[in-house]
Amino acid sequence: NSYRLLILPGDGIGPEVMAEVRRVAEWFRDRRALPIDLRQRHFGLASWQAHGSLMPDETWAEIEAADAILFGAMDSLDQAIRIPPSERRKGSLLRLRKNLDTFANLRPIRAVPGLLDASTLKREVVDGVDLVFVRELTGGVYFGEPRGVETLSDGRERGVNTHVYTSDEVERVARFAFELARRRRADGKPGRVHSVDKSNVMEAGAMWRRIVQRVHDADYADIELHHMLADNCAMQLIRWPRQFDVIVTDNLFGDLLSDCGAMITGSLGMLPSASLSARGGASNRRRALYEPIHGSAPDIAGRGIANPLAAILSFGMCLRETMEMADEADRLERAVDAVLAAGARTADLAAPGKPHLSTAAMGDAVLDALGRP
Ligand code: NAI
Ligand code: MG
Repeated sequence: NSYRLLILPGDGIGPEVMAEVRRVAEWFRDRRALPIDLRQRHFGLASWQAHGSLMPDETWAEIEAADAILFGAMDSLDQAIRIPPSERRKGSLLRLRKNLDTFANLRPIRAVPGLLDASTLKREVVDGVDLVFVRELTGGVYFGEPRGVETLSDGRERGVNTHVYTSDEVERVARFAFELARRRRADGKPGRVHSVDKSNVMEAGAMWRRIVQRVHDADYADIELHHMLADNCAMQLIRWPRQFDVIVTDNLFGDLLSDCGAMITGSLGMLPSASLSARGGASNRRRALYEPIHGSAPDIAGRGIANPLAAILSFGMCLRETMEMADEADRLERAVDAVLAAGARTADLAAPGKPHLSTAAMGDAVLDALGRP
């Protein structure tokens, strides 16, 4: 009875960072005897090039059978390559998230003591930051209908996207955030949720705020709840990030604010994520997709210099959430911390002109640190 993990490396630096994830996962399988069954398939443009399809039936079957997906990154499809629109829809990352119903996207941002010098913020502002975004991932403006571009009779174009949430969608992500805050409180964190919206100008935002408050008052009155407007949150993240524990917000604000929060650590190449569904079905299984928050980084792809730590830490989240092996997840995080404390830096983290490690050398360093007692 093993965990079936499907690696989808994707495009650009995806395959480069996922090669290191594979080595780390194999280390846990072989050295810690964890029951891991690793599979791998092409995804994104890589799939189009290899199979002439963005989502061959075999890939979908592997996705369906997997306990978790370890995803790298994919190139946007708006390139010169001609891919029919029906294929594009089948193979998009948005579609994959929607099909798996992974509505809760966790994005932890933790200041690593050995890495404070890489942050663009002052050391005393960054030191001790340990927060997590819960970004709603399957609703909001990314999926709202109607959408599209039409040409008006006078020749002007009109582009439309719609920001839509239903009360059940807000409620389930709010519950998820409150449960997470409780779990974190058991580990000594404050047990505090900031719910972020634009209730002052958006109807769906006002509804969001009302429902989060109702869920809180009914079932989570032990958790400290604050409502914050999204623009203020962007500012507060940079001014005083230590005030945050759990931040729950919609799909679009979560996307923007977590990239903003990334600079607390100093690089997009440090931030992992987990996208989780509700538990359900006969096996009470939770669908899960683990991926670094960065993209395919075409500007550095193919050079072997990408930072693999965001992807490696995403596998750490898989150990914690899907495999429920908190000790093993801690072991991996400690190894990453130790490597950074010892001064290991990929190009994105190194000071300009300072020597830096390749992607594979950073992977070696993590494996090395894992191997030490
Ligand atoms: P990006 O995250 O790929 O890159 C932004 C900047 O951060 C670049 O300068 C890049 O070199 C750097 N960077 C990112 N990850 C890094 C790492 N691990 N190590 C070192 N440096 C790193 O975002 P960008 O440039 O906006 O998008 C590039 C492509 O990726 C686009 O085609 C976009 O659609 C796609 N993308 C895919 C995502 C996904 O698959 N989940 C998410 C975001 C973008
Ligand atoms: Mg983003």
